[in-house]
Amino acid sequence: AERSPDRLRSPICCVLGHVDTGKTSLLDKIRRTNVQGGEAGGITQQIGATYFPMSRLRTQTDKINKDLLLDYKIPGLLVVDTPGHESFSNLRTRGSNLCDIAVLVVDIMHGLEPQTLESLQLLRRSKTPFVVALNKVDRIYGWEPHKFSPLRDTLAKQKSYSVSEFETRTRSTIAAFQEQGLNAALYYENDDFKRTVSLVPTSAITGEGIPDLLMLITQLTQQMMGHRIMFTPWVQCSVLEVKAIDGLGTTIDVCLTNGEIHEGDEIVVCGMNGAIVTTVRALLTPPPEREIRVKADYQRNKVVTAAMGIKISANDLEKAVAGTQLLVVHPDDEIEDLKAEVQRD
Ligand code: GTP
Ligand code: MG
Ligand code: NA
Repeated sequence: AERSPDRLRSPICCVLGHVDTGKTSLLDKIRRTNVQGGEAGGITQQIGATYFPMSRLRTQTDKINKDLLLDYKIPGLLVVDTPGHESFSNLRTRGSNLCDIAVLVVDIMHGLEPQTLESLQLLRRSKTPFVVALNKVDRIYGWEPHKFSPLRDTLAKQKSYSVSEFETRTRSTIAAFQEQGLNAALYYENDDFKRTVSLVPTSAITGEGIPDLLMLITQLTQQMMGHRIMFTPWVQCSVLEVKAIDGLGTTIDVCLTNGEIHEGDEIVVCGMNGAIVTTVRALLTPPPEREIRVKADYQRNKVVTAAMGIKISANDLEKAVAGTQLLVVHPDDEIEDLKAEVQRD
């Protein structure tokens, strides 16, 4: 099985940004869940992952795509949520290192904040393309909400003083990005996606701008990184979190970036006291559009294809180290080589 432009894997999209800008709430709005409401203090403290099949995203993206007529070639989108609190910069680094594209969430009422700038540095270092969700547009004075509306449709229906506040705040955010050496523009005024960062005004409360955001991510991944997101049978996988789960013992949440993993596969992961070699007992995935962080009815799979967030149950995972790669052992592999490789991380 060779790489082929006809078979793309799902791109991985990481959501980054300052604390409380609305990262988890935006995902909740798309999923129609309330993960944020179940978080201690409303603060995200772990990396999350949610798989969105394209068939589900289409109800939103089609609202924009009626003009663009873009073919959907990606099977879906794996979205990785990260914490914005300053103490979790290691988790933001982990997220930014494994994604193909990122959404940097900025509160339109606050502009660029310390962890926005930190996230910007991470994205630049990993050379990750990103778009900016200029979130909380519903907080603009006098804003009249239109649920899940494309941004330009709702903007056309706002009173002139609301439009004027929207324009002022957008301009000052663009100026703040300019100070960071970045050109930015509203996505529908951006004629150079390679050099200028697109701003997508959104609301996690009303869903406004969400069709635009999902459409833009789909379009950018398909048009700009077709090669990078080609499916290959070779496993590329990293450990997101190590967690004890009632009834399962210690499990690892992993991000399968490419290839496929089977129940019964022998795997090698980095451990605190040396490499761990173990066998996949169960490959568990949350249902589509459900967060892996939330204990739910995990589905048990014989095989999982990239990209996907997977909870792996196996023996001896207690000392596994998050943020490192996971390797699958093939018949002609030297196990000692794989052990050395995972311990290098
Ligand atoms: P951390 O993960 O802790 O960094 O925060 P977060 O970026 O995930 O933000 P979160 O989703 O926890 O939202 C923070 C607060 O902002 C919550 O009270 C949300 O209800 C509120 N909020 C999020 N998005 C919006 C929005 O678009 N409009 C308004 N009015 N409030 C929002
Ligand atoms: Mg959050
Ligand atoms: Na929060």
